[in-house]
Amino acid sequence: MDPTVVRTFGTQLRKWFRKNGRDLPWRKTRDPYRILVSELMLQQTQVSRVVPKYAEFLETFPTLHHIARAKPMRVTEAWSGLGYYARARNLHALAKVVTDSGRNVYGVLPPDAEDLRELPGIGAYTAGAVSSFAYERRAELVDTNVGRVIKRVFAPHADLKTGKGQKQVWAIAKAILPRTGKATWVHNQAIMELGALVCTARVAHCHVCPVRKVCTTYARGSSFAAPGTTR
Ligand code: ADE
Repeated sequence: MDPTVVRTFGTQLRKWFRKNGRDLPWRKTRDPYRILVSELMLQQTQVSRVVPKYAEFLETFPTLHHIARAKPMRVTEAWSGLGYYARARNLHALAKVVTDSGRNVYGVLPPDAEDLRELPGIGAYTAGAVSSFAYERRAELVDTNVGRVIKRVFAPHADLKTGKGQKQVWAIAKAILPRTGKATWVHNQAIMELGALVCTARVAHCHVCPVRKVCTTYARGSSFAAPGTTR
């Protein structure tokens, strides 16, 4: 990848985010537990529905220790309205492992994505999110939004439905990370935000996109890309 393109992408993206990023509650904390709860809630549920539920849930369970001590049913009840209750059950199992096991003597979530992945319910995306958003580590993350942005900007031929395509975008996500952990926090939030607000699945709002100058898809004369296509 062209280092100049990568640098321009990163600086333009972060500049845009500082001005246009939404003021969301989980962007004001570095508490790993709070970050984890937000990311689990956001996996299948819209931001607007998560915001009130997030505050309510954290009032009921302010720490991972509160979760570990609670009956699984109580955690599931507090999750009500968000659906996908496996996430709540996994969170309870995770809380038990992290607070009880001899391996995690401090009773806190580990900072490394690799270690996070070993915990119940934590996939590659969530591991990257906790490592980057809570610990400000230089960890890459790819969800649907990030995958779409990376594909359109850097890899129009990648097929995100295949393992090969996923591997490609994860490799690019890693290759375009900024140098420091602090900048990585902004970078990762920003790329998700760009996917949520500008480079959306239905319509790519290229006229307001901060990275269109380095976007492969835009260069092909294909603003307003249709879903799942490279046009
Ligand atoms: N969806 C998943 N993680 C998010 C985050 N940190 N900000 C906004 N939307 C998200």
